[in-house]
Amino acid sequence: MDSPVRRLSIDDLPACQRLAEDREWGKEDHKWRFLFSVGDVYGIDDGHGDLAATVVSTPYGKDVAAISMVLVVKRYERRGLGARIMRHAMDEAGTASLCLTATAMGRPLYERLGFRSVGSCTTYTGVVDGPFRHGASRPATSADMPAVHALDTEVFGAERFQVVEGLPSFCSAFHVVRDESGMAGFGGVWWNDGRALVGPVVARDAETALTLVDEIVPRGPVRLDIDHRHPELVEWVEKRGLTPFFSTTIMEYGEPIANDPARLFLPVAQALG
Ligand SMILES: CC(C)(COP(=O)(O)OP(=O)(O)OC[C@H]1O[C@@H](n2cnc3c(N)ncnc32)[C@H](O)[C@@H]1OP(=O)(O)O)[C@@H](O)C(=O)NCCC(=O)NCCS
Repeated sequence: MDSPVRRLSIDDLPACQRLAEDREWGKEDHKWRFLFSVGDVYGIDDGHGDLAATVVSTPYGKDVAAISMVLVVKRYERRGLGARIMRHAMDEAGTASLCLTATAMGRPLYERLGFRSVGSCTTYTGVVDGPFRHGASRPATSADMPAVHALDTEVFGAERFQVVEGLPSFCSAFHVVRDESGMAGFGGVWWNDGRALVGPVVARDAETALTLVDEIVPRGPVRLDIDHRHPELVEWVEKRGLTPFFSTTIMEYGEPIANDPARLFLPVAQALG
């Protein structure tokens, strides 16, 4: 367990997935590949050709880094590996702030490291018969991207250039709503282990956000990670018969992030904010 923390490459993806499955997380191939393309993935070798721990740090310039995929293999838990790999990612990030979404298991570890809770999130899942509306939004084109970046930076509080630039190909549908006054909102949905995950949704108001959700949500199994500050989304999932699956805590470290949660309706993924 004394192996150093090392930077992982895409060749380590199968080992990351074996570790995730050891913790009853899915394989999440599409998500891991995106994280490898936008973030810094670190791991600790177990000395037998597998990984004992992982963490992903996705930097958004010098302002914020999103921490995710904090995993320690069951047989080596409670020996300080989680804290060691987290400290490494925190030191390497070099950003003014860090953000993450903590499971109940991870939260005490992050609190010890100095993270503070700033919100709560509940993941809802179920099967829907979408899309429920058409016509108010349309697929984004490259001409929309400057305005998508500008709105995202204003709302998220840091420029997520690479992540946002990758959304049209990462998402199976990525729509915008525009009117005379400009970019009213954008929304995406992507497939994760056979379930459509709705997000990101960033919009100037709830009506635009709900329009986007109605128009991009496909038919079949879906998941939405809803920040408790968005009761209109809770109402939407309850009306569609989705049920709470698990809850998490949204946490920050360092400088308070200058974001606008009122307009940040759904994250890209809990891993990316
Ligand atoms: C959360 C997780 C990453 C923690 O990893 P870990 O390696 O067990 O973390 P640490 O060992 O650094 O700390 C865990 C506990 O072990 C204790 N510990 C650390 N070293 C120890 C040692 N040598 N002897 C005894 N206890 C020790 C810590 O004090 C801590 O105790 P606490 O939870 O009562 O505060 C791991 O449980 C995990 O992968 N869980 C499933 C996935 C998950 O939920 N990840 C978080 C995503 S946000």
